[in-house]
Amino acid sequence: MLCIKVPVKEAQKVKKELISKDLLDKEHFIKKDKDCVYFPVKKRFKTQYKFVHKILKKKKPRADLKASLTKKLSKDDLEFLRRSMDVIGDIVILEIPKELEKKEKLIANEVLRTNKSIKTVLKKGKHEGVFRTQKLKLLAGEKTKEATYKENNVTLKLDVENVYFSPRLSNERKRIYKQVRRGEDMLVMFAGCGVYPLVISKNTKAKHITGIEINPTAHNYALQNLLLNKAENVSVFLGDVRNIVPKLGKKYDRIVMPLPKQAHTFLEVAFKASKKGTIIHLYQFINENEIKKREKEIKEICKKRKIECRIINSEKCGQQAPHVFRVCIEFKITKT
Ligand SMILES: C[S@@+](CC[C@H](N)C(=O)[O-])C[C@H]1O[C@@H](n2cnc3c(N)ncnc32)[C@H](O)[C@@H]1O
Repeated sequence: MLCIKVPVKEAQKVKKELISKDLLDKEHFIKKDKDCVYFPVKKRFKTQYKFVHKILKKKKPRADLKASLTKKLSKDDLEFLRRSMDVIGDIVILEIPKELEKKEKLIANEVLRTNKSIKTVLKKGKHEGVFRTQKLKLLAGEKTKEATYKENNVTLKLDVENVYFSPRLSNERKRIYKQVRRGEDMLVMFAGCGVYPLVISKNTKAKHITGIEINPTAHNYALQNLLLNKAENVSVFLGDVRNIVPKLGKKYDRIVMPLPKQAHTFLEVAFKASKKGTIIHLYQFINENEIKKREKEIKEICKKRKIECRIINSEKCGQQAPHVFRVCIEFKITKT
């Protein structure tokens, strides 16, 4: 298989570039060794990296929904069909556009028929309220909303309707844990069913990770998931970050704030739990043209609090709407 050989440090950036230029061969797994990452590519192109040949495992192709529905839906209907779906364990969450609502059961049954590992198909809702949960309608299969899901070496149990969870963020969680250094004491605000704390616990040598979550259902799953993964360096608390963080009265090496709609309104809480050297990962929904402006705003907020900070990076980690991205702004407190 034709690959480019990229130093580990540059792998994330190169991967994004390959995807955006449609050069990455997604049918094969990427290979890694201690120093380098080997990306399978579709063809030769101009690059500073070396082309090499590697034997790579082929991915199991997921059934192509559009192809399997060609005889059951009209040409117009097929145009509206969304190919992407969220797979959480043996549950699939499907986005059904308005135009296909009358065919939603037919589509869901086709998903069941063509994906033997799937037991339940639910219709995607809208994330709402403080808990950021979504109403999910059963379209086909077993009547359950509880899933067991695996990513980044952890197993998670959760109710997909009553707990916020996105499998699409697994790479982002990996990107975060890759930055964590031995001995760090960490805080994860808005911890949900415990996914960030557990992924960090399992894949790093962090000293301790504290998770805080306001949704009792999510918190109960987090407690179960701690046991399920035998995580000994994670503590989770139920309640509002604004109340719990001051009560804990600790200063952390790293703070993760995965609540893109509102995380910035919790910065004051984060500052009180910060010391010189603390790194903050602040998630926000931002128009791609306004990332620099938001970075400046964060610096201003720090200045007003007589704190100094240095922006390390702003990482686009998902698209929310045309030109609007989920962005993780990472900054270091340099003076308190
Ligand atoms: C976008 S979800 C992220 C959940 C989890 N970190 C994940 O990635 O799957 C945000 C979470 O923050 C919780 N939340 C919202 N406001 C909160 C607050 N003031 N204190 C603690 N948790 C809060 C919600 O209940 C929700 O579970």
